[in-house]
Amino acid sequence: MSHRPASGLAAVSAALLAMSRHLEVGDVLKTIVASARDLLDAQYAALGVPDDHGGFAQFVVDGVSDEQWKAIGPLPRQHGILAAMLHQARPERLADVREDPRFGGWPDAHPDMSDFLGLPITDGDEIIGALFLANKQCPKPEGGCGFTAEDEELLATLAQHAAIALTNARLYERSRELTIAEERTRLAHELHDAVSQKLFSLRLTAQAAAALVDRDPDRAKGELHQVANLAAEAVDELRAAVVELRPAALDEDGLVATLRTQIQVLDRAHDASVTFGSSGVRALPASQEEALLRVAQEALHNALRHSGAAHVRVTLTRDGPATVLRVTDDGGGFDPTAVRRAGRHLGLVSMRHRAKSVGGRLTVVSEPGEGATIEMEVPGG
Ligand SMILES: Nc1ncnc2c1ncn2[C@@H]1O[C@H](COP(=O)(O)OP(=O)(O)OP(=O)(O)O)[C@@H](O)[C@H]1O
Ligand SMILES: [Mg+2]
Repeated sequence: MSHRPASGLAAVSAALLAMSRHLEVGDVLKTIVASARDLLDAQYAALGVPDDHGGFAQFVVDGVSDEQWKAIGPLPRQHGILAAMLHQARPERLADVREDPRFGGWPDAHPDMSDFLGLPITDGDEIIGALFLANKQCPKPEGGCGFTAEDEELLATLAQHAAIALTNARLYERSRELTIAEERTRLAHELHDAVSQKLFSLRLTAQAAAALVDRDPDRAKGELHQVANLAAEAVDELRAAVVELRPAALDEDGLVATLRTQIQVLDRAHDASVTFGSSGVRALPASQEEALLRVAQEALHNALRHSGAAHVRVTLTRDGPATVLRVTDDGGGFDPTAVRRAGRHLGLVSMRHRAKSVGGRLTVVSEPGEGATIEMEVPGG
């Protein structure tokens, strides 16, 4: 009995729709094979995607049970008829594959096959796979129907669409890999900016507490409370970075208040005086506020860690339609062009990246002996 739906066009259309519905390469391959087998009433169907080493990167079958498939053993090499399909770019329609001079016998558990239709799947000049069908199901009990020229045509149409579906699925997987890589970079920056700074402050505060514990236990106690607070904040930041939330304080208090509070804490924790001023700043899009906060944090962190400055000044001002963040220190300065881009130093790279990601610009002005100014400008506001 034929499985083919009443209208050939409806069946082809259903097969094409099924192929385009999937995005993963594996699913696309399975759908192509199942559609081909169904459409041509074949007992067996297979699709092979060649690798570069004379084997198949993927070989998907339909009509063979899982146990049978396992029993057959390793994926076929590209030899005999299979190889021909991948190298000659034209269809092969055979009444009995076993009689073809290229036939080399089956592996032990391989089902026996007679009539055969093979067709390459091409994308331009490139053969990206091949479809194989065997044993056309035959209404006549005595068998021997074989695939027809019409079947071949039908399969050719299917193969053209299979090529598109396969190429799209590959592109989709590639772009998803890229997204994952970007996401990883983002998370690395996030962790660096948020958490490593908190831990650094925490270490300093713990050291201060240790130094005070004999001399001034009360103040040591105060510092230890601060250690606990910083640890709690580090935990929050870590969680926020992981679930991609922005710093909670930004939502609750806004950028100006958040910056002011954080700067007061730094001012108390460090020998350098750290001050903040703002004027005319309006609420900004969430992503810009977050980027400004992170850049301010890293610039402050750098100034306090590397510069030996006595004064660090942070300002947030409106300049026409733009909003400008400036972090200036009167420390030892450095040569921004000499900082190695790769390797351990993530801070400057991360700041540039963040500024750019919200349509802004980062400028670093510094030279040895002249202090440093990090400026970030965003267009909104
Ligand atoms: N305000 C500053 N004053 C003096 N030197 C600075 C200042 N900011 C940065 N630097 C110098 O530039 C280098 C690079 O800074 P960057 O933030 O990229 O990396 P890092 O602070 O060394 O490491 P990370 O930020 O990844 O923990 C620093 O190592 C330091 O030598
Ligand atoms: Mg840094």
